[in-house]
Amino acid sequence: MSDSHKHDQEKLETGTEVTAQPQGRAEQQAAPSGLQTPEEAAEALADRHFDTKLIHFGAEIDPATGASSVPIYQASTFHHFDIYNPPQYDYSRSGSPTRQALEDYISLLEGGAGGYAFASGMAAISAALMIFSAGDHLIVTEDVYGGTYRLLTTILSRMNIETTFVDMTDLEQIKAAWKPNTRGVFMETPSNPTLKITDLGAVAAWAKEHRLITLVDNTFMTPYYQRPIEQGVDIVLHSATKFLGGHSDVLAGLAVARTPELAAQLKKLQNGLGTVLGPQDSWLLIRGMKTLGARMDRSEIGARKLAQWLSAREDIPAVYYPGLADHPGREIQEKQSTGYGAVVSFDVGSEQRAKRLLSRVKLPLVAVSLGAVESILSYPPMMSHAAMPRDVRLERGIADGLLRFSVGLENIDDLIADLDQALAD
Ligand SMILES: Cc1ncc(COP(=O)(O)O)c(C=O)c1O
Repeated sequence: MSDSHKHDQEKLETGTEVTAQPQGRAEQQAAPSGLQTPEEAAEALADRHFDTKLIHFGAEIDPATGASSVPIYQASTFHHFDIYNPPQYDYSRSGSPTRQALEDYISLLEGGAGGYAFASGMAAISAALMIFSAGDHLIVTEDVYGGTYRLLTTILSRMNIETTFVDMTDLEQIKAAWKPNTRGVFMETPSNPTLKITDLGAVAAWAKEHRLITLVDNTFMTPYYQRPIEQGVDIVLHSATKFLGGHSDVLAGLAVARTPELAAQLKKLQNGLGTVLGPQDSWLLIRGMKTLGARMDRSEIGARKLAQWLSAREDIPAVYYPGLADHPGREIQEKQSTGYGAVVSFDVGSEQRAKRLLSRVKLPLVAVSLGAVESILSYPPMMSHAAMPRDVRLERGIADGLLRFSVGLENIDDLIADLDQALAD
């Protein structure tokens, strides 16, 4: 795989068309010793093991000073030293060095042709869905994140982009939803919050036959556990606010394209919509991502133990975790991912019991979010899925007593003891 894509940089400020320029810091600055060309340098990065890529991604040392982290270029515009030779970066909406380092980093981790950083996960998802046009039809997983559901049903619907929601654990339902104007398939696996598993490779292969663009929200797995582009998916999306950032201190979104053509489209949408990530937040995200593997490993060990403990309790009607032996999607999960993740959802039986538990827990943050060093307990019916009408929510298995536990880095026995006291009658 070569990361050496080149984009036409649109000069919206001046209206001038400028020839394509290489953008990647990795390509330009990180040639390991003995390698001459940017292509060789990019290939050497791509050949490394994932854990090594997390730390040595091409921009980890500032070539100007040797500083041990990417500099924060807090600048909105860039001086043209030679008016006939515009600089690589001319205006920070179109491109900024700190954001570029992050964009190359996520593209390297996902194995894509180009990565793009946005002001939030929803900004990344919105930009990617702008690839589609009025009159297009999309097939979307039925238990998609609530914000994506709202975007599709209340905003894109007004622009005549039509959506059919289906249970994506069943490929036949996806096939049955196809229409002559279908242009895309949007997946989320494991899904939020009921952790259903979609077979990425099977859907991507079918979609290819129909020339559909496939997108997947990879927030729950991260590229540490799951790299959808390797399964043939076209666009990978992240709420980087979650595991990638990892510290509940930055709101960000990322999009990665499989092909240079789709990368160029995303780049154009990012610049055109202007919903870019600022340099400080780009830096924070890079900093958080360096420990992604260590955090995911540790949290997953806790999540497995928590899921088993909950399953063994008679007063918990349902536990959703793809690592449980009886999870219907476990086999597919093991085929396409190297882990089960750090999120466990469980139904305590009623709204009243869920609310009582939320008021009693002492360790987890009771909050809208997931994927941080601290555990986060959320109540989807009143938080992430509040935008979904109750009947639709219940139809999608999001019961009134459903809670979602994102396991952080605390000692898991302390977390379990805390839940135990909160569940007591
Ligand atoms: C799976 C998933 N996708 C997308 C989003 C939206 O991301 P953001 O809140 O960063 O806009 C979220 C947020 O909770 C999410 O959980």
